[in-house]
Amino acid sequence: MPSKFPSDFGVIVLAAGRGKRMGSDLPKVLHPVGGRPMVLFPVFAAKALRAKQIVVVVPKDHAAIRSTVDVGCGKGASYAVQGEPRGTGDAVRAALRKITFGASGTILVLNGDMPLITSETVAALLSAHRKSRSVMTLLTVDRPDLKSYGRVKRDFSGNLLGIVEAKDATPEESAITEVNVGVYAFEAGFLKTAVNKLATDNAQNEYYLTDALELALFQGLPVAAARLTDPSESMGANSQIELATVNREYYARRRRALVEEGVSLLGEEIFVEASAQVRPGADLQSPCYVKGGTLIEEGAVIETGCVVSDSRVRQGAHLKAYSYLDRADVGKGCHVGPFAHLRPETVLKEGAKIGNFVEIKKTVVGAGSKANHLSYLGDATIGKGVNVGAGTITCNYDGVNKFKTTLADGVFIGSDTQLVAPVKIGKGAFVGAGTTVTKDVKPFSLVISRVPQRAIPNWARRRKSKKK
Ligand code: UD1
Ligand code: CA
Repeated sequence: MPSKFPSDFGVIVLAAGRGKRMGSDLPKVLHPVGGRPMVLFPVFAAKALRAKQIVVVVPKDHAAIRSTVDVGCGKGASYAVQGEPRGTGDAVRAALRKITFGASGTILVLNGDMPLITSETVAALLSAHRKSRSVMTLLTVDRPDLKSYGRVKRDFSGNLLGIVEAKDATPEESAITEVNVGVYAFEAGFLKTAVNKLATDNAQNEYYLTDALELALFQGLPVAAARLTDPSESMGANSQIELATVNREYYARRRRALVEEGVSLLGEEIFVEASAQVRPGADLQSPCYVKGGTLIEEGAVIETGCVVSDSRVRQGAHLKAYSYLDRADVGKGCHVGPFAHLRPETVLKEGAKIGNFVEIKKTVVGAGSKANHLSYLGDATIGKGVNVGAGTITCNYDGVNKFKTTLADGVFIGSDTQLVAPVKIGKGAFVGAGTTVTKDVKPFSLVISRVPQRAIPNWARRRKSKKK
């Protein structure tokens, strides 16, 4: 947004509806789009435009919605409780009690279930509203497919006549293809009087905010409508089917944006969530999921089948196919997978190599260290240049408590070793294959615990002859 964009307006976000059509216990506005609860989209748009005040209308049981908005926007919003969901007009009435604006301000009203509306579109609506000096400006779109939307009625010259909700529409009105998107700009003085004049004589027995248009016209006040430039922004998420459509559109947009920024994407099934960042020069292969607060840096490669949540994949690191990361930090140039599982608080320092079927949890793996095959490393600190042999297991849990394993720099762990924690292996020490380490090992020593090998000559032959 240009820095001189006027910020003398307030925003009301409507988020108190029942959302019955979702068929879910989760409030409608908390359903995720691009992994982000959808109520945050209009709230973030309002923040991006530097609105003076943001009021979110919430239902009686609002704890989850409030905490989501508080966390999402750093307590920048205030709340109005709508006791019963008696319609969008009633929701705005509740919000106005919290608006501290005088009668001269402008108020934007945004439905809480329209996550694809961009802040640019909202800004364009606001300037159209100001230019036309209207008391109400609504956003419309030509979409005959949006059958549940309010129809925008006009006379033969194209002048606005009103909005009729789908459930109240006559067959002729239902045939109108211009529909109400659910984003409006109002003059505060008009809005305050209008919401108090609304009636409920309609099919849903609700106070419709959309009736404000006819009220303005009745009083001879100027109104305007702006058309949406990108019709995909008008998709609302009222049902699970619509939510799925909105998510498809969201991820397709994100893919286009990433490619434009210089990220290389191979294939279509690449899902980068709203809060995740992928830097130009990274390379993502379909299918893969990049979730939460993940950051993928320049030159990183994410191969097919990977799921990366709340993690950092630093420059030039390579996640091979089917690796699963959650709250992991993968250092520069590391190799991970195929089929690796990095659990919370895994830190791989520069150039570490983690191979197939290795699970790591709450462990730091030092620079250039390797665990290439079939291992479990939990609650461990591993130094630089350590080699962890195939099938090494940290026995970190005795059924009650967790214990730490420490491998100092340059340690070599032979295959099929159990490290029974708490245990420390000193710098440069060797652990022979098949060892169960139960005591600390001194630097540069060799430790080995195996049953000595016995050979009984001709044993197998004798067994055969006994059987006969
Ligand atoms: C609304 C519009 C319709 C428009 C459509 C576009 C009205 C009467 N109709 O219909 O013209 O085409 O949006 O998306 O406004 N809400 C409350 N309190 C309530 C009722 C709703 O806060 O009592 C909130 C909901 O949480 C939702 C928003 O208002 O975020 C819109 O409500 P919804 O019931 O989805 O309206 P639509 O039927 O979609
Ligand atoms: Ca809706």
